[in-house]
This record gives sequence, structure tokens and C-alpha cells, in this order.
Amino acid sequence: MNKNWWKNAAIYQIYPRSFQDSNGDGIGDLNGIIQRLDHLKYLGVDAIWLSPVYESPNIDNGYDISDYQKINPEYGTMEDMDRLIEEADKRSIKIIMDLVINHTSSQHFWFQEALKSKDNPYHDYYIWRTSADSNLPNSLMADSASAWEYVPSLDEYYLHLHSKEQPDLNWKNPEMKKAIWKMIIYWLEKGIGGFRLDVIDLIGKEPDKLITKNGPELHPLIHELNQETFGNYNVVTVGETWGATPEIAKLYSNPERKELSMVFQFEHINLDKQAGKRKWDLKALDPQKLHQVFSKWQRQLKNEGWNALFWNNHDLPRIISRWGDDSRQYRELSGKMLAIYLYFMSGTPYIYQGEEIGMTNYEISDISEVNDIESRQMYYDRLDKGYSKEEILQSINTKGRDNARHPMQWDLSTNAGFTTATPWLVVHPNYKDINVETALAKQNSLFFTYKELIELRKNNYDIINGEYEILNTGNPDVLAYIRYKENEKIIVVVNFSKQLQQYSLQINLNHSKCLIHNYNTKINNSNELQAYEAFAVKVSGNNL
Ligand code: NOJ
Repeated sequence: MNKNWWKNAAIYQIYPRSFQDSNGDGIGDLNGIIQRLDHLKYLGVDAIWLSPVYESPNIDNGYDISDYQKINPEYGTMEDMDRLIEEADKRSIKIIMDLVINHTSSQHFWFQEALKSKDNPYHDYYIWRTSADSNLPNSLMADSASAWEYVPSLDEYYLHLHSKEQPDLNWKNPEMKKAIWKMIIYWLEKGIGGFRLDVIDLIGKEPDKLITKNGPELHPLIHELNQETFGNYNVVTVGETWGATPEIAKLYSNPERKELSMVFQFEHINLDKQAGKRKWDLKALDPQKLHQVFSKWQRQLKNEGWNALFWNNHDLPRIISRWGDDSRQYRELSGKMLAIYLYFMSGTPYIYQGEEIGMTNYEISDISEVNDIESRQMYYDRLDKGYSKEEILQSINTKGRDNARHPMQWDLSTNAGFTTATPWLVVHPNYKDINVETALAKQNSLFFTYKELIELRKNNYDIINGEYEILNTGNPDVLAYIRYKENEKIIVVVNFSKQLQQYSLQINLNHSKCLIHNYNTKINNSNELQAYEAFAVKVSGNNL
């Protein structure tokens, strides 16, 4: 298989807990995923990124791993996992595992041993500091609390950049590194298609200098990881890197450096957050800024790196509720607009489960409805700081991670076909309107826009990965760009607003061929766009 297969692939993210329950316990599982592989094949996906399915006490829903080589019994067995890889392979779909190697669960054998004594060989697998007079070792924070946890029996603190049940691994310990490499090879040998590397920008940290992201040893460590493990296999690797700028992304993804295939960068995602504040502190999105950010990444990574393209994941609110419009009238139109805007960009697209049918945020009215540890911690922290309950709940409703974690909506049956039992997190009541069955029955549903876009990308690879230029529209709510390779051009125009918009392109679209359009009408050359109207056209030859 071509070494760069992932450049022309569409990847679908599954949050296993919420995808499909097959054994009636209210929790999604591996056999459930197998049952739904044909849905993914029909959509056109080439690979699945599976959020963690390893053994875990689930403090952070699997991002706290207690054994990397065991499957969480809630999800099935290792035999089920092998069968998933095999069944996916029969459909030419690869399985990408989530690799959480910045930290383990505090229940991991290594950490349990580490707690026993300072002389235990596993003690140094983690990051420990002492401190006089019961002061904390320093001011490093994990969200709103100290990142140091005191262990009285050792009179030492350990570092955890997430919850205290997720102690950080010490990447300076050679034995720990080797153990992680060995584990990675175990998975590669199973024939998986690659890894998504969780918060990988943290592994080069220098806690004493208060450096967490992008530490001095980060890139040498990733290069070494590549050389010792996945660099020897034909797989894709994508790093989660909240702190990446285009310059940093090139360090990770320039193929000559032999680190990762690509990274998830979050500059566009951070655009509706107040500078220097946490994600909960919102500000309105400016579509022009969004366009500038995307355009910058398109230009700067060209030939020197690779983009991951995404609107959603299991940590983010549903994009339609965020930057689209989840009202009945505009939900699908705005979802199609967002997809059309993104899918002519160069890079590898990731679709998060339910995005293809336009699932929306879920509104809660009390903290008891929340499962997510991050939202819960923020709730109690801000209550202490004097915020009102209403204000905090509004933040959770807008940005909370549970928004993306409510069960997948498959059909009109009880619990949307996700489970026959009580689901671990409630099913959104809007499943009667928004579900796969209904989407498939409707020829012009959002699902078919995604399917078509995936196919269009495959058929127009050279143009989509060709040159990129912003097209001026004279209207800040109308975003446009052109892609071209020699005489072949694709022009994308989207109205990012709910209002009718005038624009001018200074390009005549009369002789163009429509590739995709979210309105059931002819593309209007009168320079007017309806609410959320979006299209892409192809122009061949010199008739621009
Ligand atoms: C990023 C993951 O996407 C998130 O869900 C998790 O809580 C943290 N990393 C910690 O592993």
C-alpha cells in the first residue's frame, strides 16, 4: 500500500462508549462497532480513530489507562478487538488506536509500584518532587488546581497535568520509554493503521522550569519514538498538539524529520475564547478571523507538513450548535456550509461520530446531569469563586465535553437504537428528527453531503492539494477561496451567516461546473447568497 495513503483518506472518530451497545448494558462496545462498520464504509471512510478502549477506571473515560495491553471489559475482550481489526480490514478500513503516553491511570501497575517506595524500580517512571514546609513544589496547575499531589507515605509530590488520577510519566527514564515502545510495537504487530497521540506536546516537559508544552526534549523524543516504533510500519500518526503554530506543526509533520504524519492544531477552535482565558470564557466568532487562520495553515504547511482538518471531536461541542445554527430551519443547511468550507482544504479530514448526521449539543439544567470530569471540576471551582450557577451551566451547555458524548443516534427506536438498556449518558431527545435511518432515507440530507464531499476529495486530490488563495468577496460574512493546479480550479464560496448576503467575486462563474451546493437551486450568479448558502464549482481551462 502507498506509504502516504493517509493523505487521501477520510478518518472517522469513534467514542466507543457512545457509539453502539451490543450486549445491553447501556455502554457502547467493540462488537457494537463491528455491527456498524457498513455504515462507515457507505459513508466512504478509510480509517477509524478509536478513542481509548484499554483497561481503565474511567475517571477520564479511558484517557486514564491502567493496562495498555488489556481491553476494558465494558468494551469487550482482546479477541473482540482482533475481530474488529479483521472485520474493518475486510472493508478496507484501518483502525487507529489512541495512544495516551503522557500519563497513565493511578491504578496502573507501574504507579501502584511507584507508590510503594522511592527505591522501587517503577518509582522513577513518574515525576516526583519534594518540598519543604508543606509548600507545593511549584505553581504548575492542572486546570484550576495544583498539578502536584502529595503522597504522605513517601513525603513526596507527583506531577499530574490532568486529574490527580492521571500521573504524568517521566520521559527521562530510559526503562519507562522502552516499556512504552514495546507496548506500541505490540499494537503495531496486530496490524493496526496507526495512532492518535494524546496531548503529545506535553511529553518533553521541564516541570522545574514551569515548561509543560513544547519542551526542549519534545522533538528528539518523538523522533526517537518514530525510529523505535511506528516509523518502521506503514501507518498514520496524528498528534494532539494544542500549542502548535504552523512553525511547530512543521517540526512534527515535515516528513524529512521523521516524527508524525500530522497534528491536530486548535487555532481555529480557540477563536471563540477570550485571549488568555479558559475555554469557558466565550467571545463571538469572527468569520474573517476563521478564514485567516485556515488560510494561514493552508499556505504555511504546503510541502513542509500536513494538516488535519476537523470541526469536532470528543472534547468539543457540536459544531452546528457552535458556529452553525441548530434550529430546525438551519441545522442541515449550516452543517453543509461548514462541511463544504472545510472539505476543499488540503489535509486529512476527520469526522466525529454523529457529525455526518448533524447531531447537536445537549442542554442540561443541573450539574447532576454531567458525567465529564472537566466540566464537573470547573463547576465546583467556579461556584467557589462566586460565579452564579446559571452562568456556569451556560458555559457547560456551550462548551462542555458531554455535548459530543451523548449516544450516537441511529434510528427511531427506543434510545435511538444505541442500546436496549438505560444508556450511560442520556440519548438526546431530538433523535426522532436526527438519526442515521432518517438521514439515509432523505436524498439531500447532510449525510449525503459528507459522503459526496469525501468522494469529491478523492477525485480531485491534485487540485485540492494544489495552490491556495483567498478570494476577496467584499463581505466579511462571505468566505471564498480558490484551489488550483495548472488550469484546473475549484472555487469555494460560503455564506457564514443566517442573513442574505451580497458579495462580489470578480470571477464569472457562468462556465463553471457545480461540484456541490447546499441549496436545491441553480448557483446564483447575481452575487447574492441565501442564509448559510455554500457551493464549490470547478473551472477548467482559462475561462476565469
Ligand atoms: C486529550 C483528550 O482528548 C481528552 O479527552 C483527555 O481528557 C486528555 N487529553 C487527557 O488525556
